[in-house]
Amino acid sequence: MKRFRTYRTDAATRELHADITIKADDFIYPLFIVEGKNQRQTIKTLPGVFRFSIDALNLELADISSLGINKVLLFGVIDHALKDATGTAGYDPDSLICRTIRFIKSYFPQITVFTDVCLCEYTSHGHCGLLDGETVDNDNTLPVLARIALAHAQAGADFVAPSAMMDGQVEAIKEALTAAGLKTKLLSYSAKYASSFYGPFREAADSAPSFGDRKTYQMDYRTKHQGIEEIAADIEEGADWVMVKPAQAYLDIIQRAFVAFPDVPLAAYQVSGEYAMIKCAAANGLLNEEQAFTESLTAIKRAGAQYIISYYAKEFIRKGL
Ligand code: PBG
Repeated sequence: MKRFRTYRTDAATRELHADITIKADDFIYPLFIVEGKNQRQTIKTLPGVFRFSIDALNLELADISSLGINKVLLFGVIDHALKDATGTAGYDPDSLICRTIRFIKSYFPQITVFTDVCLCEYTSHGHCGLLDGETVDNDNTLPVLARIALAHAQAGADFVAPSAMMDGQVEAIKEALTAAGLKTKLLSYSAKYASSFYGPFREAADSAPSFGDRKTYQMDYRTKHQGIEEIAADIEEGADWVMVKPAQAYLDIIQRAFVAFPDVPLAAYQVSGEYAMIKCAAANGLLNEEQAFTESLTAIKRAGAQYIISYYAKEFIRKGL
C-alpha cells in the first residue's frame, strides 16, 4: 500500500507538495471604461466590478498596482448615439480607449496595457463584424479591425487583443502594425467559443447583438480539434500570445494548447459568467467564495495557462495579504 496521506498530514506538508502557485504577475485585470466625469458605475450582473471614467481611474490603478497586478485589459463602453453600422467610433485616434491608453501610459507606465479589439462594442447592431444583410462579412471586417488595433497601438497600447473571431484577423492586424513600424504585440483570442458564460459581460459592455447570435464566428463547443487548429493558425499568422476562452469549461483545450505550443505564452479568460456564478452561489450561502475562486483559478493554471484574465484578480491577491 502506498501511503498517499503522508502528503496531506498538515498544512505545511500540503504546502510542500503543492505544484501550482499563482502570482500577481500572472493576472490580467479587465477594466470597463465609460465617458464622463467621476464615474464609478456598478454593474448589475457583475457585483464588485465597475465601469470607470478616465478621470476616476487613478484610485483603481493605484489599488491594482499596490497589489502587484501589472496588466490590464481595456473595454470601451460608449453611448448608443455614437455607435454606427461600421463601428467608426472604434478607430477614432481620440476614442475613449485611445485616451485611456494615453492616460495609463503617462501616469502608470509600469502597467502593461492590453486592449480588446472588436466591433461589438462600437456597432449599432452589436455584432463583432460588418454586416452584409444579416450575415457577418469576414473579409470586409478585417481592415476595420486593423484600423482599431492601429489606433490603439499608436496611442501606446502594449498589446492589442483581437476578439472578433474573424478568419485572418491576426495577419491583417500584424500587417498594419508592421507597415506603421510599430512593435506592439498581439494577444489573440484564438480559441473563443460561442458561450453562454459571456452573459453578464454583455450587460457590462452593452455589447449584446441586436439580432441572432455569434455562432457563425465564435466556435462551436461541440468540436474537439478546432480549438487547436485555430490557435495554430493564429501562431502562424504572427500572434505573440494566444488565448483560450472561457476557461473553466474548457480546461481540456487549455491543456492541449499548453502541450501543443509550449513556447507560446498562453492566456485563459475566466469570463464574466464564471465569476458571476461563484459570486451568486456565495451570496446565497451555497459555497465559500474564497475557496471556490481559488480552486477555479488554480485549476486554470494547472491546466497550463500562464496568464489568467480574471475579475477575481484583486480579491485573489488581497486574500493572500
Ligand atoms: C468582445 C468580447 C466579449 C468578451 C470579451 N470580449 C463578449 C462576446 O464575445 O460576446 C466576454 C468576456 C466575459 O464574458 O467576461 N467580443
